[in-house]
Amino acid sequence: MADPRSSTVHARYPEHLRRQVDDYLSGLSFSVPDAREAAEATGTEGLVEAMRYSLLAGGKRIRPVLALATAESLGRDPADLMPSAAAIELIHTYSLIHDDLPAMDDDDLRRGMPTCHVVYGDDVAILAGDALFAEAVRLVCEEQGGGAHVQVGILRELSRATGVAGMVGGQYLDLKGAGAGGTDALAAMHALKTGRLMAVSVHIALVLAPPPPAADATYRAFAREVGLLFQIVDDILDVAGSEAEMGKAVGADERMGKVTYTSLHGMDRARELAAESHARAMALLADLPGPADDLAAIADTAFARQS
Ligand code: IPE
Ligand code: IPE
Ligand code: MG
Ligand code: MG
Ligand code: MG
Repeated sequence: MADPRSSTVHARYPEHLRRQVDDYLSGLSFSVPDAREAAEATGTEGLVEAMRYSLLAGGKRIRPVLALATAESLGRDPADLMPSAAAIELIHTYSLIHDDLPAMDDDDLRRGMPTCHVVYGDDVAILAGDALFAEAVRLVCEEQGGGAHVQVGILRELSRATGVAGMVGGQYLDLKGAGAGGTDALAAMHALKTGRLMAVSVHIALVLAPPPPAADATYRAFAREVGLLFQIVDDILDVAGSEAEMGKAVGADERMGKVTYTSLHGMDRARELAAESHARAMALLADLPGPADDLAAIADTAFARQS
């Protein structure tokens, strides 16, 4: 049986890309560009504080790092995709803020810190999430290079991955206990609630630098696989992980009666399914024409992570 704890590949995670993401995110002030809008937004400092509190609380940044690593493997400078990669982290952070609300998973700890609603109140936390989504869209429109064709293509990917056939639809299925419908229903729910935001990190790089059709299909299959793998391991860590390492509560899924890979399949089988998914992801990378070391390290991290 595969044991994610036995892996030693964690150190290869592309930390240089993570640092670039962190630097870029910490430079975002969410200030409004024109003087009149700025005057109208006076008094919104508390909202921006709540947004930056959650965004800059840490986090693995695996989605933007995946986007940048994909761009690199397609022969592009990662910096060319940074605004859109950062936009995904804004959307992901919004999803976490809302996911932690009392009306959803009711969690008090995130990224090692009290959750947004615990510090700023439910009302401000809802608005901070809403604003992060809108600011993500603004970032792509105002900062992403490559012209209108690339910007619209990326916005299309981001909106699809976030909406009904994406993260929000998956969160709805999660809240309604759709995973109880069986193994396929659970996999489908995971593919939406977590898989789509992971996969879109690859997809936006394909918009910027389209490869030939065969490679495009391989990248997409890899993206889907890593997204599934990531949530299987998240379910495992909710049972077997440590609160100190993860910076969020363990046992939260059971407390909320969530259907997860461990509750449906059992821990041993869940670990096997994670190992199988990881092996499929690695096999796909072997088919790519370009360098894929950083992508392999990200898949390893998705599999072997303890946080
Ligand atoms: C947690 O995502 C929520 C899931 C979709 C499983 P991450 O594990 O990427 O959380 P951060 O961004 O590192 O805090
Ligand atoms: C969260 O899934 C997925 C999204 C936030 C979209 P979980 O509810 O399992 O994430 P954690 O465990 O709270 O990070
Ligand atoms: Mg949840
Ligand atoms: Mg949760
Ligand atoms: Mg979880």
